[in-house]
Amino acid sequence: MVQIHDKSFIPYLSEAQIKEKIKVMAAGISKDYADKKPLFIAILNGAFMFASDLFKELTIDAEISFIKLASYSGTKSTGNVLTAIGLDTDINGRHVIIIEDIVDTGKTLSSFLPQLEHQSPASIKLAALLNKPEATTHPVKIDYLCFSIPNKFVVGYGLDYDGLGRNLKEIYQLDDHVLV
Ligand code: XMP
Ligand code: MG
Repeated sequence: MVQIHDKSFIPYLSEAQIKEKIKVMAAGISKDYADKKPLFIAILNGAFMFASDLFKELTIDAEISFIKLASYSGTKSTGNVLTAIGLDTDINGRHVIIIEDIVDTGKTLSSFLPQLEHQSPASIKLAALLNKPEATTHPVKIDYLCFSIPNKFVVGYGLDYDGLGRNLKEIYQLDDHVLV
């Protein structure tokens, strides 16, 4: 059990489980993208740890770039307008793979992916660590996924609760057995 700010979280996915899934994903991508020199675009902040571990497991030539999107605060997705900052690579004609920590409602990516499509990449695919299928309001196609999880808030392994918890090596789930 860990305490972050005012909330308790219980262990959900171990470091070993995460690493194992990432290895399988990296092997699949390495096979699918042999000789395509894909460009990975990792979405900060949440995906930094996942992006790093996934990238290390690739066995093909690949590039990586990092961007920041703003659309989230606290424990619920907000309706903010999305802007992307920091894309320093021309994606025209490139095979792009987006790296995202978690697809929750799908709102963030369903607004961002069309922006990228306007820049004429050869292809765009999505690699996500986590997906909450029950939370979907804006369906997006996830091409590579490590875990489908219940609709509960999670932290750790790059994901935060109001800024904290990113350094945890495992993923923790909000403990909703509130004691009063
Ligand atoms: P949407 O709803 O647009 O949300 O798919 C995507 C972004 O929301 C954040 N998010 C979370 N962050 N624990 C977190 O730490 C969660 O359970 C969670 N659910 C959504 C995350 O930044 C993601 O990129
Ligand atoms: Mg994120």
